[in-house]
Amino acid sequence: MTEKKEKTHKTIEQAEQEGKYIRKVRSFVKREGRLTKNQQRSIDDHWQDMGLNHSDGLIDSQVVFANANPVVLEIGFGMGKSLVEMAQAAPDTNFIGIEVHKPGVGACISSAIAAGVSNLKIFDHDAIDILADCIADGTLTTVQLFFPDPWHKKKHHKRRIVSAEFVETIRQKLKVGGVFHMATDWENYAECMLADMQSAQGYNNVSASNDYVPRPESRPLTKFENRGQRLGHGVWDLQFAKKA
Ligand SMILES: C[S@@+](CC[C@H](N)C(=O)[O-])C[C@H]1O[C@@H](n2cnc3c(N)ncnc32)[C@H](O)[C@@H]1O
Repeated sequence: MTEKKEKTHKTIEQAEQEGKYIRKVRSFVKREGRLTKNQQRSIDDHWQDMGLNHSDGLIDSQVVFANANPVVLEIGFGMGKSLVEMAQAAPDTNFIGIEVHKPGVGACISSAIAAGVSNLKIFDHDAIDILADCIADGTLTTVQLFFPDPWHKKKHHKRRIVSAEFVETIRQKLKVGGVFHMATDWENYAECMLADMQSAQGYNNVSASNDYVPRPESRPLTKFENRGQRLGHGVWDLQFAKKA
């Protein structure tokens, strides 16, 4: 009789608990696009003032911004054009942007400096880690997610950043009454977002028709929205407020 060989490999769950294996489906593919000289210089010259680092852990916005103004968090700001416009239009609100695409980070800092915006700080890191490690619960007035990568193919839907788990994380980070605002030009993603939000506990839909809202004046048109309009796509905005 052959002796049964002892199983030496661990389950993925055991390995994860021991920190030896991290299973992660990311919502982005790191595009190492070349930074322009201006983008690189903007990062080099202004990261000290505008940059926030994942490695510094939980932030206290009153210390970071030196005031107690409300805080808006934007996930995946792209080149930062609309984020900078919003920050410029609301000087009594603090904005935190998160983006993994380095040229976008450089472009955003450059636009913010050109616009004289001082109420904006930037993370250059995966938003999932930032939410877990750097943002305290119950501290945000608004979370913005505009035109997240739609991951069109069904086999890639698991990469979409919006999921039941994600919307629950956002709920924890919002203050009571705080709003989670999403926009997309991809109808199937809009339907999935709506389904996730409707089955989530602890949110009220701001929409009078219990689905989508008209684009609020406060959200500037983005590059992706313009493109979507040119292609004849619709745009869907969703706003849900955190219940008491
Ligand atoms: C389709 S673009 C939209 C950019 C911008 N919001 C706009 O409307 O023009 C999505 C952006 O989200 C960023 N992104 C995707 N997943 C992310 C994550 N987990 N953390 C931070 N940024 C992310 C991508 O790098 C990309 O720039």
